[in-house]
Amino acid sequence: MEINIKPTYKQYLVWDKLFNDYTKYIMFGGGAGGGKSWLICDWLIYMCFKYPGTKWFLGREELKRLMGSTFITFCKVMSAHNISSELWKLNGQYNYIQFLNGSRIDFLDMKYLPSDPLYERFGSMEFTGGALEEVGEIHFTGFDMLKSRIGRTLNLEYNIPSKILLTCNPKKNWAYFLFYRPWKEKKLDKDKCFIQALYNDNEYTAKQYRDNLSSMSDKVLKQRLMFGLWEYDDDPSRLFEYDSIIDMFTNEAKRGLKYCIVDQSGRGKDRTVITLWDGLFIYKIITMKEGISMQELDKILRQEQIPRSKCLVDEDGVGFGIVKDMTGIKGFVNNASAIKSTRKPKKEKDQEKIETNYANLKSQCWDTLANYVNSGKIGIYKDIPTEYKELIIEDLDHIKQTNMDKDQSFRVTTKEDIKEEIGRSTDCGDTLMMRMMFVLKDRIKVSFAFC
Ligand SMILES: Nc1ncnc2c1ncn2[C@@H]1O[C@H](COP(=O)(O)OP(=O)(O)OP(=O)(O)O)[C@@H](O)[C@H]1O
Ligand SMILES: [Mg+2]
Repeated sequence: MEINIKPTYKQYLVWDKLFNDYTKYIMFGGGAGGGKSWLICDWLIYMCFKYPGTKWFLGREELKRLMGSTFITFCKVMSAHNISSELWKLNGQYNYIQFLNGSRIDFLDMKYLPSDPLYERFGSMEFTGGALEEVGEIHFTGFDMLKSRIGRTLNLEYNIPSKILLTCNPKKNWAYFLFYRPWKEKKLDKDKCFIQALYNDNEYTAKQYRDNLSSMSDKVLKQRLMFGLWEYDDDPSRLFEYDSIIDMFTNEAKRGLKYCIVDQSGRGKDRTVITLWDGLFIYKIITMKEGISMQELDKILRQEQIPRSKCLVDEDGVGFGIVKDMTGIKGFVNNASAIKSTRKPKKEKDQEKIETNYANLKSQCWDTLANYVNSGKIGIYKDIPTEYKELIIEDLDHIKQTNMDKDQSFRVTTKEDIKEEIGRSTDCGDTLMMRMMFVLKDRIKVSFAFC
């Protein structure tokens, strides 16, 4: 059997990377219609036929959308290559394609499940390699887990280098800071590559896509999908500037007293997150699947030499018990009234400080954190695991002011709205927000001292 592949020039560049010894993760696309899905199908079909018995995955955030889009392309590619439908079969019940020669492609639902935050459902799978569609929608932990599952089926026997092919549209998540930004700055690690392909790089459908994309009325979407623009700023209600969030991981923040901030799991929180601070610098993050016990917290405080008066635990969930039973520990209640203070306006042009009326303590702390982050005052240790880094970036990037146009007290997005958007609670980000309670209390002490 012969498969006659006719790649576009950009697809050809990817094919080159798919067979070298050093590129492990190849990101392709960055706009609509660049030939992303076709390339994935061409590659998987070619590998399945050429290497009998190999095992591949094809994942997307939602399985239903994978079946409704990439699988349709898959069938088109099969017929474009005149491949008989007798040689392969879809198993719709278990979502895989079985080839007559023993090769197989598993369709993976990459959705984040609070009951499986570490994607342990893929933990025992063994693949030769695979592809992920639209990684802007996929959680980093899902990708991270799959990285450890490739190179495990017949790679040695056939000498197949283990690879993951990723496709994307511009989105500021891990795809941006792991691939796009380093690519733009020419600092991409050797094991990764990004090949940009926009609609006009795909001669097969350039005209059709140009007509469709040109007629889009949503300006931001058009910038992203037609021109491949990643650094768009689409939402003025966002509190945090994206670049300032990223800067935290290289900032040298002011050091001082040590603090321990605990966000307990339970009541919709997926895990317990503890951030340890030296002044405004986070030097360690600890996470636990379950809630933290008093003994465990006491041990951390002793080890880190952090006084109890500098330890803050959220009181909304199961943290309530600890705050009540551990003398000296402080409690944080989201809906408590704001601490009386002044808020610096986000835009420099609004010169005077506005006496802001906050809906609650949580909104006040988020706003204070945004001012601190946007002015480069918060730092985070360099070797933070990528999983936590990704969580912090995503958490902060989703915090918005909800009532911008109304003459009401300042309020941020509710927990429920965020959960709806990102499928989980902002546990990591919450500990940064809670740290601001000490900042606000210190501010008040300083203003009393001046009286
Ligand atoms: N190598 C190829 N050989 C033949 N046709 C191709 C090839 N690559 C792309 N095409 C054509 O271009 C069309 C668009 O490609 P594809 O669906 O892969 O783009 P995409 O980047 O996934 O688009 P979208 O952003 O809409 O998901 C395909 O339907 C197919 O007609
Ligand atoms: Mg596609």
